[in-house]
Amino acid sequence: MSKYLVTSALPYANGDIHIGHLVEYIQTDIFVRFLKLTGNDAIYMCASDTHGTPIEINAAKKGMTPEEMVAKYNQEHHRDFKNFQIDFDRFYTTHSPETRKHAVNIFENLKKQEFIFTEEVEQYYCPHDKRFLPDRFVRGVCPKCKADDQYGDSCEKCGATYNPTDILNPACSICGNEPVRKTSRHYFVKLEKARPAIEEWINKEGNLEPNVKQWLKSNFLDQELRNWDISRDKPYFGFKIPGEEEKFFYVWMDAPVGYIGTTQKYCDEQGLDFDSWWKPGTDSKIIHVIGKDITYFHTLFWPAMLHYGGYKEPSRVQIHGFLTVNGEKMSKSRGTSVKAATYLNHLDPQYLRFYYAGKLTASMDDIDLNLEDFRFRVNSDLVNKIVNLVSRTTGLLSKRLDSEVSEPAVSIEPVVAQGQASVEAIENAYRNFEFSRALKLIVKLADTTNKYLQDTAPFKIAKTQPDEARAVISGALGIVKGISILLGPVLPEMKSKIEKLLNAEKVWDWQDLDFKLGPRKINKFTHLAQRVDEKKVEAMIQETKEEAAAQEKQLPPEVPEFKKMIEFEDFLKLDLRIGRIISADPVKKADKLLMLVVDLGLEKRQVIAGIKKSFRAEDLIGKKVMIVANLKPRKMRFGTSEAMLLAAENAKGELALLGPVALENPQMKLDPGTTVS
Ligand code: 2FM
Ligand code: ZN
Repeated sequence: MSKYLVTSALPYANGDIHIGHLVEYIQTDIFVRFLKLTGNDAIYMCASDTHGTPIEINAAKKGMTPEEMVAKYNQEHHRDFKNFQIDFDRFYTTHSPETRKHAVNIFENLKKQEFIFTEEVEQYYCPHDKRFLPDRFVRGVCPKCKADDQYGDSCEKCGATYNPTDILNPACSICGNEPVRKTSRHYFVKLEKARPAIEEWINKEGNLEPNVKQWLKSNFLDQELRNWDISRDKPYFGFKIPGEEEKFFYVWMDAPVGYIGTTQKYCDEQGLDFDSWWKPGTDSKIIHVIGKDITYFHTLFWPAMLHYGGYKEPSRVQIHGFLTVNGEKMSKSRGTSVKAATYLNHLDPQYLRFYYAGKLTASMDDIDLNLEDFRFRVNSDLVNKIVNLVSRTTGLLSKRLDSEVSEPAVSIEPVVAQGQASVEAIENAYRNFEFSRALKLIVKLADTTNKYLQDTAPFKIAKTQPDEARAVISGALGIVKGISILLGPVLPEMKSKIEKLLNAEKVWDWQDLDFKLGPRKINKFTHLAQRVDEKKVEAMIQETKEEAAAQEKQLPPEVPEFKKMIEFEDFLKLDLRIGRIISADPVKKADKLLMLVVDLGLEKRQVIAGIKKSFRAEDLIGKKVMIVANLKPRKMRFGTSEAMLLAAENAKGELALLGPVALENPQMKLDPGTTVS
């Protein structure tokens, strides 16, 4: 029994989980379940990644504090993961006292060993938003191909990468104004000084796949390692750097520390020994599962931070590729960037777990979710070969043979032998993240069992030779038991249901892989998985397209241009007053108009206002409103309008009547007729 601490990359609390994210969480979950099933002390730690500029700005856009937005996404992500049967031992947050404590500890340890220095850095700064702009928040013309509206550090048109200060016509992506250059003092880690530990870690057998090692060598290690900027200026959502009031740790300085902070929280809650996981020299194994885009944070900075910070380094960083759908990048408009929650409105999560497992290997290659292949694989391998094997065997037993399992028929022995012979290979496949190989062997075993049932034909002989039929079925159910255990890491829910169905005396684990069931009465069949319905897949794509369309509509409304400037004297000509609506009636045959009478103190006026769509007449009576009192009376089809109401209107055409609120002098009476200027 070994101790394993396994993590997935911490998802940003800044958007929904989609099927692309799920590759990694399903991959990690399968691995951890395998470790647990084979008797290891394994824990799966994860958390929301909460800090940084995008989260802070996005929260402000949504009218929330960063803390509120983090709490919202933390809860939603946890819900989505749970629904996909992803079973963290703890799902926490990086915005926690535990993560802060360990981040500061690492920083202080690096400082003591003189890894940290400060230097003035020139960056773009938006005087309007009063903030330094990260590269992604500067847009402009690509200095190379002159394409418009490109990011500050790279061009999506021609692929060029450049210094943000090289971009032409730079603009702040928040407000559109031109940024200025401004310097600020930043904290750096001397990465080159950490080279010995980094090289040792990268070269250690088993830490990385060989091609990742090679990539790191030729892209980083063969040159001097660049210093790493770990600070950001306010405003920033993050942890303050010790001794600073306006400077924060860059999100990547504390995000991976979230792995440690979450373990700390978990150990505190469970009364476990934190040091047994993260202290150098202990026998735990730390395994990080990540996507290829964040390789260099986890394989250069992170081992260095841990080594010199006084923590244990990972035993392995397992890197997967990206998800494509039907061979292309996921796209909202094509309906292929499917949210986890949207998927669940239509399809069984087991399908995706099964399909991804069948595709996953230890390599960094991208994996493709071809929707036709998805249907085909799930229907043919999972439903036809495995689920049907369970339902036919248990069905026959319960319908025709009193649900009684007997000793197995001798004829099952070659199938049992195949099962036993494949256990080690399946185990190695899971251990080495070669899930697709494991699944092939399991499906092969199901194939053999189905063939065995075809040859022995218990369905035909159940009436005439019930004992023989029972023995054959009993043999096959021993294989079903084995398949349910072998598939357990991928389909835990199905394993539990089969345990119940076959009246298991305990929760089966790897030690129960004897491919024998033994005499007992089985329980009633419960549904395990249905065929994938093409219409449901289409409905899921359709719903995703509709979400994309709705989102587009929700884009912040454009604020209308200002009107031409007027003279002060022109403004003084306006006679603005407070009025009280004393009667309100719909104008018959006019679908937009309300007929109001407004008390203006000195006199009452009739106002015909185009506000019927937004308000009910009776709701307006007694309301105080703002009135333009000296607008010349206008003759209309339904009467004369003798004044005008003031109202605010947004881009959707929604109206709000404006009334008086005395902010500074609440005692002052705002009676009808009071002047406004
Ligand atoms: O790339 C990302 O989505 C990051 N939120 C991953 C962080 S992993 C770890 F370092 F926290
Ligand atoms: Zn700006």
